[in-house]
Amino acid sequence: MKRISRRSVGWMLCWALAAGSAAGRYSSFEPGQIWKDNNGVHINAHGGGILFHEGVYYWFGEHKIAGRAGNLAHVGVHCYRSKDLYNWTDEGIALSVVTDDPNHPLTAGCIIERPKVIYNPKTRQFVMWFHHELKGRGYTAAMSGLAVGTRPRGPYQYVRSVRPNQGVWPMNVQESHQKPVDRKVMETHYSGGSLPRHPDVLNLLGKGYVTGQMARDMTLFVDDDGTAYHIYASEDNSTLHIAELTEDYTDHSGRFVRVFAARWMEAPTLFKHKGFYYFIGSGCTGWAPNAARSAVAESIWGPWMELGNPCEGPDAELTFRAQSTYVLPVQGRKGAFLFMADRWNPENAIDGRYIWLPIEFIPAADGYEPIRIRWRDQWDLGVFD
Ligand code: GAL
Repeated sequence: MKRISRRSVGWMLCWALAAGSAAGRYSSFEPGQIWKDNNGVHINAHGGGILFHEGVYYWFGEHKIAGRAGNLAHVGVHCYRSKDLYNWTDEGIALSVVTDDPNHPLTAGCIIERPKVIYNPKTRQFVMWFHHELKGRGYTAAMSGLAVGTRPRGPYQYVRSVRPNQGVWPMNVQESHQKPVDRKVMETHYSGGSLPRHPDVLNLLGKGYVTGQMARDMTLFVDDDGTAYHIYASEDNSTLHIAELTEDYTDHSGRFVRVFAARWMEAPTLFKHKGFYYFIGSGCTGWAPNAARSAVAESIWGPWMELGNPCEGPDAELTFRAQSTYVLPVQGRKGAFLFMADRWNPENAIDGRYIWLPIEFIPAADGYEPIRIRWRDQWDLGVFD
């Protein structure tokens, strides 16, 4: 047997440390920098969201590969686990694309974006919804995919993909929507695109009434009473919908509202602070960054009041060259919310970076507290103390 010299043991130790196998590597966040998991590999969970379950955070996101090809789904939804939010352990692929059936909706080369997972205590199921586009069809399918699992890290079983809320009008429907839809509108398959092109007058809501509503960028939100909501960019990205899910979280209840009509908002996030609902999202410019949007409401159904771009600091008008994906309530710290965003790199998708920053509330005597998100090169959870 070959003897391992003391010198090579030293080198192995150095290598192990460099590769990041030493525990407790990070004690702060460094927005925009390479962020290594327990194996020393840059975390691969883009457009992600976080589930907190039994003392552990689970981060789910799009697994990207190198190059432009990485903008399509070749692997699936990646899951990581952490107790401190700084150091993440690779838990593998929670939902896999299908590689042996070109006709399967999840076949490799389809689009899986912005996966979010919530836990349903009644069914003891972990429920994942994601934006799903069919292979070779660009962004025209505009569907929401559903997968369920019995353990947080999966594996998740794909259930179906839908255009939500078919055959029901939103609670705030206008009379002008409830009329027969133009045949031309019915036959048009909007690609989504990156810039507003279609005016509201097309009655895309009416088309959605017939076919199910278009659903692209999305998030999930569970309220204090356990009711879950699916928030998705609809009507060709021109208008967001906030839709209630059924008690088991695996379907839409049919109760929904249109919000920010013809405001072209994407990348929705939603959270609740001191009884008020807050929204942070983006404008609609594809992978290119734009100024964040924010809003507040006393009821999730609205009316929502826009508050403008909460970002401050270098590149604040471009959301620090990133786009929102989730707002995480930090456990055990009241009023502590972490803003999560993606700095996309569509030329080399796997190199997308994560911008995590604390949300600050500006104290107010009564009513809602305005929010701001200030750039920091490095920070830790101590800012919430
Ligand atoms: C963005 C959206 C991303 C992705 C991209 C494709 O606006 O937020 O999730 O869909 O467009 O161009």
